[in-house]
Amino acid sequence: MKEFKVTPIRNGTVIDHIDCGMALKVLRIIGMDGGNVQSPVSILMHVPSKKSGWKDVLKVEDRELDPRQVDKIALIAPRATINIIRDFNVAEKHNVKLPDVVIGKTRCANPNCITNQKEPVEPEFIVEGKNPPILRCVYCDRILENIADNLI
Ligand SMILES: Nc1ncnc2c1ncn2[C@@H]1O[C@H](COP(=O)(O)OP(=O)(O)OP(=O)(O)O)[C@@H](O)[C@H]1O
Ligand SMILES: [Mg+2]
Ligand SMILES: [Zn+2]
Repeated sequence: MKEFKVTPIRNGTVIDHIDCGMALKVLRIIGMDGGNVQSPVSILMHVPSKKSGWKDVLKVEDRELDPRQVDKIALIAPRATINIIRDFNVAEKHNVKLPDVVIGKTRCANPNCITNQKEPVEPEFIVEGKNPPILRCVYCDRILENIADNLI
């Protein structure tokens, strides 16, 4: 199997085992999809995974993620692992984790849902499936079809 190599990073974060096709959406979550990128980022898309099948990988120098970003990554790439690189080595490895209830991280796609009216109601979803994530709105019962485009 072909090896894909990018320049190793000294310090930063490798987001590994991203579901194929989701790398750019993860970049958006970590705020590195615009003109404000201050350090090198490697984007690997559709590379073979040793575990099985294919994956996307992001390697971001000199950045660690905040917990809210990690929670959002879990919603669109539930198998992702977050590797914190320090001095060229994997210093920490975390699996992202989907909670049982998602509050205030995604908006409901139903325009008539109370969470989209003037009421100050925070969106809340029950996680009915974890792989792939299936979110059902607590207020209108609708399944959220496109999680990646409804992140808050
Ligand atoms: N210094 C580094 N610079 C860039 N990428 C790195 C660096 N060190 C590790 N990585 C990448 O981080 C990821 C995790 O590294 P690790 O050595 O834990 O691999 P692994 O044993 O295959 O992990 P896993 O079991 O999670 O797949 C891999 O994708 C690896 O290529
Ligand atoms: Mg691996
Ligand atoms: Zn709703």
